[in-house]
Amino acid sequence: MASNCNLVSVLGLLLVLTLIHNPVTVAGQRNSGAALFTFGDSNFDAGNKQTLTKTNVAQSFWPYGKSRDDPNGKFSDGFIAPDFLAKFMGIPIEIPPALVPNVNVSRGASFAVADATLLGAPVESLTLSQQVRKFNQMKANWNDDFIKKSAFLIYIGANDYLNFSKNNPNADASAQQAFVTSVTNKLKNDISLLYSSGASKFVIQTLAPLGCLPIVRQEYNTGMEKCHEPLNDLAKQHNEKIGPMLNEMARTTPGFQFTVFDFYDAIIRRTQKPSSYRFFMTNSSCCGIGTHDAYGCGLPNVHVRLCEYQRSYLFFDGRHNTEKAQEMFAHLLIGADKNVIQPMNVRELVVYPVDEPMTEVWVPTTSATVQARESRSSSHGYGSY
Ligand SMILES: *[C@@H]1O[C@H](CO)[C@@H](O)[C@H](O)[C@H]1NC(C)=O
Ligand SMILES: *[C@@H]1O[C@H](CO)[C@@H](O)[C@H](O)[C@H]1NC(C)=O
Ligand SMILES: *[C@@H]1O[C@H](CO)[C@@H](O)[C@H](O)[C@H]1NC(C)=O
Repeated sequence: MASNCNLVSVLGLLLVLTLIHNPVTVAGQRNSGAALFTFGDSNFDAGNKQTLTKTNVAQSFWPYGKSRDDPNGKFSDGFIAPDFLAKFMGIPIEIPPALVPNVNVSRGASFAVADATLLGAPVESLTLSQQVRKFNQMKANWNDDFIKKSAFLIYIGANDYLNFSKNNPNADASAQQAFVTSVTNKLKNDISLLYSSGASKFVIQTLAPLGCLPIVRQEYNTGMEKCHEPLNDLAKQHNEKIGPMLNEMARTTPGFQFTVFDFYDAIIRRTQKPSSYRFFMTNSSCCGIGTHDAYGCGLPNVHVRLCEYQRSYLFFDGRHNTEKAQEMFAHLLIGADKNVIQPMNVRELVVYPVDEPMTEVWVPTTSATVQARESRSSSHGYGSY
C-alpha cells in the first residue's frame, strides 16, 4: 500500500513536471522571434495581385475566403499554408502582402504574386527576381541580423512549365531537359540574389504534380483517374535538380542554410489515398465548372458549382488547395520528418545557429526508402499527418 502511494505520488509529480516543462520548451522552440518571408506564385499570394492590377481578380470574390467569411485575395476558401506556418512559428500577426501600402511587415511579408514565373515577363505579375528586387527596396524595415534568422519560403516554377507545355506540346526529351535546366538555373540565380540581400535560411517547396491539378486534368481531358503525365514528368525533372543544387550552394556559400519540402509527394499521396488523409475528393475541385469542376471559381457570370463541405476536398479551385489541405502542409513544413522535409523541418531550421554550416545534406529519395515509407505509413497511421 505504502509503495503504491509512493508510486502514485511519484507519477503525479512527474505529470506536474511534464506539464510545467512542456509549454516552456514548445514555446521556446517555436518562437524564435524571426520573421517569415514568402516568394513565388498564386499559392503564396496574400493579396498582391489585386494591388498590382486595376481589374478585379477572381480571388477577391466569393466563394474565395468563404470559410472565413472574407475573400482576401488568397487562393483558398480561407487561410493559406504560410498563414498557418507563421502561427506555428509564433508570429502574432498575419503575414501581409508586401505590395499593399502601410501594412505591418515587422514579422515578415508575402512578395508572391499570382501568375509569377522564373523566366519571361509575366503579365501584371512579378518574376521571382523582381520580387527579390522589391524585397531589397523594403529592406530598411528589418535589420540584418533579423533577416538572417528569418525563414524565406519559396514556391515558384509551376507557371513556367504550364506555359511551356501549352506552347510546346510536342517538345522532345532534349527540349524538355533544356527548358528544365534554364528554369532551375534561373531559380538558383534568384536564390543567390536573395542570399546577397542578406537572407540565409531558405525553405524551398518542390513543384506539385502539375499534371494532376484538376484544371490540367480538365484541360487535357485525362478523365478522373489519370493525370497529364508530360507535366508530371517536367515537374519531376525540375524537382530532382533542387536538392543537389541547394546542397552545392550550402557547401560553397558561407552561412547558407536550406531545407526542401517535398510538396510533389504530399499531393500525390493524398491524391492516391484520399481516405488516409480524411479527404473525400482529390481529383476534382470544390469550386468551378467543367469535367473536374476546375474552371471559373470567383469569376463573375460563371455559374460555378460549390461543394458543400470544403474540408473534404484537396483542391478548392482548379489548382489551389482548400484551407484544410493548406493547414496540413503547414504542419508538414513546421514539424514533419525527413521523409517529407529534409534535411530539417522549419522548426529546426529557424533555431539552427546562423552562420554555421549545416551538418546534414539533402539526400535523394530512393525507391527503397519510398517503399519503407509506404509500409510504415500503413502500419503506424503516419497517413494522418
Ligand atoms: C506590428 O506588429 C507588431 C507585432 O509583430 C506589433 O508589436 C507592432 O506594434 C505593430 N506595429 C504597428 C505600427 O501596428
Ligand atoms: C510563355 O511562353 C511564350 C512562348 O514560349 C513566351 O514567349 C512567354 O514569354 C512565356 N511567358 C511567360 C510568362 O513565361
Ligand atoms: C485520382 O487520381 C489518382 C492519380 O491519377 C488515381 O490514382 C486515383 O485512382 C484517382 N481517384 C479517382 C477516384 O478517380
